[in-house]
Amino acid sequence: MKFIHVTDPHLVAPGETLFDLDPLDRLNACIDDINAHHGDAALCVFTGDLADRGEVAAYGGLRRALDRLVPPWHLLIGNHDDRPVFADAFPETALDENGFVQSVLETDAGAFVLLDTVEAGTHGGRFCEKRCRWLKARLQELRDRPVFLFMHHPPFDLHIPCLDEIGLADQDAFADAIAGHGNIRHLFFGHAHRPIAGSWRGIPITTMRGTNHGVPLDLHTRGRVPKSHEPPAYAVVFVDPQSVIVHFHDYLDKTTLVADGDGYRYAE
Ligand SMILES: [Fe+2]
Repeated sequence: MKFIHVTDPHLVAPGETLFDLDPLDRLNACIDDINAHHGDAALCVFTGDLADRGEVAAYGGLRRALDRLVPPWHLLIGNHDDRPVFADAFPETALDENGFVQSVLETDAGAFVLLDTVEAGTHGGRFCEKRCRWLKARLQELRDRPVFLFMHHPPFDLHIPCLDEIGLADQDAFADAIAGHGNIRHLFFGHAHRPIAGSWRGIPITTMRGTNHGVPLDLHTRGRVPKSHEPPAYAVVFVDPQSVIVHFHDYLDKTTLVADGDGYRYAE
């Protein structure tokens, strides 16, 4: 199965810019690239920070952009989103019994568990008792199934202080909640705006840049999140019973080379 991971589009009202970039333009370019090369993907998951300030107009722009996306799409929220405004704009999105934007998606590769780590009023993430009970119950139901976790805030530190200080509170509770499930095959997250791969408690983890701005590899700054204009990316993920392969694709990069006489030139 092939699916697409997109994160952190940070949309503002259509026509407005954010950090001197047009988030909707860059998301539309991402969607064009996915449609051109991966229209056959089984689905596309967006791991939050859909809107930069949770504005109605931003979600309206997102809706119109997603109307053009060929693979079926599923949305998580992040710390920049506004849960009630989002839920109004996307009423078809599944909510749990407590109103959190979280659900289980059955796919050919296994169960995709979409988690809501948002806490209104803070950029940090939460995994409260209600969400803990929900996740434990879902993992119990899925105890014999491969599980893929999707969440905005990573449940571990990244060694980037400005991100770790707005990371997930309740990391221990999260680790405890998943400890009994032996078949979590991968954890996909957002929030970091950087390409990061590794493992946590034996679970492979990945994220990549958002579709608007990046966050530089700054291991010292605290109290604010530096921004960058590194190229935006999305991930193409292949899953089979033996492997999970994640390709990061800088979809605005124009440096692919083609042979040209005795040398090379950039492809069109
Ligand atoms: Fe973000």
